Amino acid sequence: MPSVTSHLVIALALSTSSNALLSQRDDSTAVPSPFDNLEDVHVFKRDSSKTAEAPLVIYGDSYWMNASIGTPPQSLSFLLDLTRSRIEPAYTLDENYTCSDDELCSEFGFYKPTDSSTYQHLTYTQRHDAGVDYTYSDTITLGDHAADQAPLDIPSIKTQADSSLGLSSVNTSFPYILVDRGLTTSPSFSLIGDNGNTTTPSIIFGGINTSKFNGPLQAFSFADHTITNNPFVTLEADSLQLLTNTNDNSTYPIPSSTPIMLRTDELITYLPNSTVQSLYNDLNITTDGVISSSRFYGVLPCSRQESEFHTFSLVIGNMTFSVGWDELFVPWTRDGLCKFGIQAQESDYKTHAELGVPFVRRMYVAVDYNNQFVGVATLKDDDDQDEGEDEVVEIGTGTALPSAVGDWPASVTAYTPAASTGTAAATLTFTTATSSGGGVVPTGLSELGRALLVPGVLGMAVLQAV
Ligand SMILES: *[C@@H]1O[C@H](CO)[C@@H](O)[C@H](O)[C@H]1NC(C)=O
Ligand SMILES: *[C@@H]1O[C@H](CO)[C@@H](O)[C@H](O)[C@H]1NC(C)=O
Ligand SMILES: *[C@@H]1O[C@H](CO)[C@@H](O)[C@H](O)[C@H]1NC(C)=O
Ligand SMILES: *[C@@H]1O[C@H](CO)[C@@H](O)[C@H](O)[C@H]1NC(C)=O
Ligand SMILES: *[C@@H]1O[C@H](CO)[C@@H](O)[C@H](O)[C@H]1NC(C)=O
Ligand SMILES: *[C@@H]1O[C@H](CO)[C@@H](O)[C@H](O)[C@H]1NC(C)=O
Ligand SMILES: *[C@@H]1O[C@H](CO)[C@@H](O)[C@H](O)[C@H]1NC(C)=O
Ligand SMILES: *[C@@H]1O[C@H](CO)[C@@H](O)[C@H](O)[C@H]1NC(C)=O
Ligand SMILES: *[C@@H]1O[C@H](CO)[C@@H](O)[C@H](O)[C@H]1NC(C)=O
Repeated sequence: MPSVTSHLVIALALSTSSNALLSQRDDSTAVPSPFDNLEDVHVFKRDSSKTAEAPLVIYGDSYWMNASIGTPPQSLSFLLDLTRSRIEPAYTLDENYTCSDDELCSEFGFYKPTDSSTYQHLTYTQRHDAGVDYTYSDTITLGDHAADQAPLDIPSIKTQADSSLGLSSVNTSFPYILVDRGLTTSPSFSLIGDNGNTTTPSIIFGGINTSKFNGPLQAFSFADHTITNNPFVTLEADSLQLLTNTNDNSTYPIPSSTPIMLRTDELITYLPNSTVQSLYNDLNITTDGVISSSRFYGVLPCSRQESEFHTFSLVIGNMTFSVGWDELFVPWTRDGLCKFGIQAQESDYKTHAELGVPFVRRMYVAVDYNNQFVGVATLKDDDDQDEGEDEVVEIGTGTALPSAVGDWPASVTAYTPAASTGTAAATLTFTTATSSGGGVVPTGLSELGRALLVPGVLGMAVLQAV
């Protein structure tokens, strides 16, 4: 009798609803032809717009996202990083591990993989057989949205106290994983600042909350602003304005076509030398902070933080984002010198100008990696927001960001979820040998396959006869 070899292609976690899982399993007895029902993925969506939100905290001049990992869920706050491309929960295998009060992990948590039933550690052979490029995975949950089998890098808490979540344009970053798992339609997100209040920043993956900003978003392409071939989120600004405590008003132009990279993990803003030096002259900030024979930080006595009151505004078109002087001091030496929060980009081995968190938190920022645009707007005051209205719109896969003005491209190549290509990271392929008349029936799965067949992990099974 001839034996038929079939590949059971498991497209992972296209749905997290167990009803959807059951109905899909029932359908699978009919042996769907390969991939013809990938559109069905969209049938299982819970919301009319596919978005996932999470609360943020701004702490230590960085954005942190509250989420959970594993089953049952372990609460964890992740440092958001626009330059990294992996999820890195700081972990320990020590069941009795405790953080001292002065460590970040006492506040933000850490990961105990051995307490999670959905934690996976793949061997080399399992990775090879499954065609995936990661070794560890577990479920990451934002509110009621679970991203199953999210690939992880797990740094030991002994070497890295904070957990981080990569938001970069590299296709292994978290926004792409949400697309792979069917939770959003595009690798995109909104970073909603708190206007300097430490209360209500948030992040929405895949969507825009139009009631949070004074529209329209003004959009900038960052397609050409790459470092090692990966585009980084950059915008352009016209000038920095200074309003001193004596009401002197000065404008420092920023050379046009200066891409300014957005940071969610740094206080200091780096701008071109020409902009910064004239500001330093006017404020009597010296470049006495010696780094090397050719590089100097702008420094000033920390006591000036309390004794003076100035305001800096970043001007972008008709928008201004204003930061108080007192937010721009970084302790530097024991004898009372502080690094100033606006530095020349030449001072610190930077390849781009960078915008630090004090300015970014005054913005509504929407990033879409499909079209490689970032939209920015000023935040509405709490009083002006339309409470209760569902004003969240999907960013989607079109050429333009919603509620935005920009010089849009004629077309974009939308990211194709790994699962639907049948080849990439989130699709696991198992070879099973069977023989039976007309139909193709899987007789068994590898050990790895069985491990994956747990509710919430298997979204859809497609039988592919070869
Ligand atoms: C952790 O603490 C418990 C209770 O104190 C103890 O029984 C166990 O042996 C400890 N585990 C390790 C790895 O030290
Ligand atoms: C976020 O997590 C931190 C640490 O667990 C907690 O203190 C804070 O209240 C949480 N914030 C929100 C908005 O959930
Ligand atoms: C400072 O000058 C700018 C440009 O001249 C102007 O738009 C702004 O309103 C001025 N601000 C104050 C507080 O005078
Ligand atoms: C920055 O500008 C100052 C003043 O114009 C100049 O003295 C200095 O050499 C410049 N530094 C660099 C690295 O270009
Ligand atoms: C500028 O700052 C230096 C020390 O940082 C101080 O000695 C000097 O008096 C200041 N000059 C003015 C005009 O404020
Ligand atoms: C600001 O500029 C944008 C883009 O040029 C424009 O669409 C918007 O109407 C302007 N807003 C105001 C309040 O002038
Ligand atoms: C920030 O707080 C101030 C008062 O502390 C309030 O007037 C303002 O509306 C708040 N802004 C936002 C965006 O919540
Ligand atoms: C959108 O913003 C409005 C106004 O602040 C708020 O009431 C609503 O909860 C937000 N929606 C989401 C999904 O964050
Ligand atoms: C992700 O990017 C890599 C290289 O940049 C590419 O080889 C791979 O096909 C991409 N994966 C998907 C699912 O687009």
